[in-house]
Amino acid sequence: LMIHKCLFPVAGYGTRFLPATKSSPKEMLPVVNKPLIEYAVQEAVDAGLTRIGFVTGRGKRAIEDHFDKNYELEDQIRGTGKEDLIQPTRDLIDACEFSYTRQKEMKGLGHAILTGETLIGDEPFAVVLADDLCIADGDGVLMQMVKLFRQFRCSIVAVEEVPDDHIHQYGVVAGEPLKDGVYRITDMIEKPSKDEAPSNLGIIGRYILTPDIFDQLRETPPGKNGELQITDALKKQAQEGCVLAYRFKGRRFDCGSIDGFVDATNHCYDKFYKNGF
Ligand code: G1P
Repeated sequence: LMIHKCLFPVAGYGTRFLPATKSSPKEMLPVVNKPLIEYAVQEAVDAGLTRIGFVTGRGKRAIEDHFDKNYELEDQIRGTGKEDLIQPTRDLIDACEFSYTRQKEMKGLGHAILTGETLIGDEPFAVVLADDLCIADGDGVLMQMVKLFRQFRCSIVAVEEVPDDHIHQYGVVAGEPLKDGVYRITDMIEKPSKDEAPSNLGIIGRYILTPDIFDQLRETPPGKNGELQITDALKKQAQEGCVLAYRFKGRRFDCGSIDGFVDATNHCYDKFYKNGF
């Protein structure tokens, strides 16, 4: 039971980042000099997931172009120092197989994942939300989760402690501790109020899902905001079997918000770029 595939839902509009996202995908916003989506794909490849699926939408073609050769550009920079800047991207393109499908209507994250079924089929897979940028020393967050999956073979969500005044922005879990940083989920609620929240552990944009999630999603009615919520489908999976919450090691930046994006930029500048590209 190996994981090969990673699904990237990228159809969302990124309205929190207007006007930057008016005609360019939010996933192409650069943290220093690298688009968010490239950090995310790199994290998947580092975890051994090289079959990359995008659930895309209108106005997102820049993502496809980013993960393809640009012959004119290659011609321009051949033999110059600039080649070093693009080498990591070339390596990703060579390492991966990319496939794309379109989400025709925005009906929530659960709907986006269900749209991706055609790219995934009947095997376990990861889901990464690129606007949650995760930076870890040692194993990346997905690699940490893949290792956990090898042990438990069930769906896993990454969680972190979220302050009270932000909890309404997250899927929130309740669970019984299994071992260090790992909980067996007993309840989960999408975007609860402070009072409804069953804990302060919010789900961040890293999931490993077993393929029965697709049947669960098909049977799940619209939830919070009238959207099909992956949180609701996972809750059923947790009740009927087992779903784990994992407190990952590393830092996560909410790059869908201005504050998180600026923090990520400063962090990555110091960590990766300060001493020269
Ligand atoms: C989605 C999920 C939510 C999760 C969050 C993580 O919400 O629905 O459960 O906590 O991603 O970023 P969104 O931020 O897309 O509204």
